Amino acid sequence: MATVKEGDFNAIKEEVKKVLKQPGYDDGSAGPVFVRLAWHASGNYSLVEHNGGSNGAGMRFPPESVDPANAGLHHAISFLLPIQAANSWISHADLWTLAGVAAIEAMGGPTVPWQPGRTDYDSGEAASEHRGELADRLPDGAKGADHIRDVFGRMGFSDQEIVALSGAHSLGRCHPDRSGFDGPWVVNPTRFSNQYFKLLLTRKWTPRKWDGPFQYETIVAGTRLMMLPTDMALIEDPKFRPWVEKYAADQGLFFKDFALAFGKLIELGVERDDTGFAKLVNKAAREGKPLDKTAMPNGGGCPFAGTGAKGREAKL
Ligand code: HEM
Repeated sequence: MATVKEGDFNAIKEEVKKVLKQPGYDDGSAGPVFVRLAWHASGNYSLVEHNGGSNGAGMRFPPESVDPANAGLHHAISFLLPIQAANSWISHADLWTLAGVAAIEAMGGPTVPWQPGRTDYDSGEAASEHRGELADRLPDGAKGADHIRDVFGRMGFSDQEIVALSGAHSLGRCHPDRSGFDGPWVVNPTRFSNQYFKLLLTRKWTPRKWDGPFQYETIVAGTRLMMLPTDMALIEDPKFRPWVEKYAADQGLFFKDFALAFGKLIELGVERDDTGFAKLVNKAAREGKPLDKTAMPNGGGCPFAGTGAKGREAKL
């Protein structure tokens, strides 16, 4: 990988685009799993507890690295490691979110607003100390509309934003060895489009007869496509459904709303100071307790530990 000028985030985006093609991996592209990495890095944010979110790249360490909800995301982290190794000035947290943005654009989607300044935790201990308890915050595909609203409401998203964000399921697939679910949502899962919404509305979706978890299926041009119970909830729920209809009819509207919502998602938990640098806020400090500066030794046993940018100043 090329070493690019410090602070040149557009050049990093180009580096990400160079590693998107991955023959032998899934549908030949790392794009979908980059988008999922950016989403899961951000989607454990809580507006109420003010913790979680994309700052810190906490998924390099347990418990987030071993959370079954994040199964398979080590592929995305590994595809990006050579870029980080050649450009140690960029934090993992910035790189993961920027990779999602670059992938969406390269796969034909909109340009998502992105800003640098995220910092990395030095160790698993630091991540746990700062982040607190984040388990069970990501959505469960086996559930329904109430669950989706709970999860995304905790992050501060409206019904409209939830439906827009769900359109990312025009990318990638489910893997039996990761989530247990199986298959892609659309015929061309490396092209960002509003196909997901069109298929939800126009196809007859029936329960798949198999020994895996409950999911829906339909066959299009010889390809077996799938929907999760949470995907179907978007057309069953009377408040979600009108947005599915709007996005199915108007790809431009979907792209515009998706770009805004995804831009908001990857900013969750990123609080920049006036130099543009997003410090990691200690949980004790958040709760008004004195800081224990000795409680953060290096370590954590993760292969990705210690390779992040430390204490660098964000270049804007
Ligand atoms: C109700 C909300 C959601 C649920 C229940 C859900 C569930 C899932 C599941 C079960 C998978 C398959 C994982 C695997 O087996 O590898 C998946 C994949 C994926 N999800 Fe979601 N998801 C949700 C929302 C989102 C959002 C908001 C985004 C991004 C904006 C997103 C982007 C993706 C992408 C790109 C993949 C494909 C990953 C790959 O191909 O490796 N999802 N999702």
